[in-house]
Amino acid sequence: MKLTEKVHSVLSQHLSLGDCAVDMTAGNGWDTLFLSKSVGESGHIFSFDIQKAAIAQTKKLMSGAEQTSNLTLFHSCHTKIEQKIPPSFYQKVKAITFNLGYLPTSNKTIITTPQSTLCALEKSYEWMAQDGVMTILAYRGHSGGLEETQTITEWTNRVPVHHEVIMGNESPESPVLYVIKKSERIL
Ligand SMILES: C[S@@+](CC[C@H](N)C(=O)[O-])C[C@H]1O[C@@H](n2cnc3c(N)ncnc32)[C@H](O)[C@@H]1O
Repeated sequence: MKLTEKVHSVLSQHLSLGDCAVDMTAGNGWDTLFLSKSVGESGHIFSFDIQKAAIAQTKKLMSGAEQTSNLTLFHSCHTKIEQKIPPSFYQKVKAITFNLGYLPTSNKTIITTPQSTLCALEKSYEWMAQDGVMTILAYRGHSGGLEETQTITEWTNRVPVHHEVIMGNESPESPVLYVIKKSERIL
């Protein structure tokens, strides 16, 4: 199973109709579409991306979806979570997904960075529900990717919950998936 499929498998185990979820990097919109289907019309998805092209692509993908009224798209950096998402969702977000790096088929120099990713991770963790899940898919093959992955590893080791780390394959450049469940606290 590809790590992107594993992400959807993990998210679907934690999401029900009516839930709230956040896509921290909308990109081409595939994760947003998946989340939207998982929570249905009674749920809500918030999706961030700093690139206009990604927002346009996500809108286009979602226009073919059954429900679109459950999505709020932010053309914004994901570190602005508390300024963008209404406070009524604080600690009610059931699933948060990060698919880091660059927008495929676009400008490969516009990428997530260790600094902004760390800031967004810390804030997202606060916004998660107690039974929520966070997935972080990090890439080590591009410039800055290894440093970003190391930053995430250090952060996951500081968070007081168990986390799972799944490697794409044995290559030192393979993607890495982190799965964090807030309920699995380290005592
Ligand atoms: C690998 S793509 C995401 C793929 C996407 N989840 C999908 O399903 O197609 C990474 C995205 O992160 C976005 N990005 C980079 N830095 C960001 C930031 N600080 N805040 C929000 N999005 C960012 C990029 O513009 C790019 O579209």
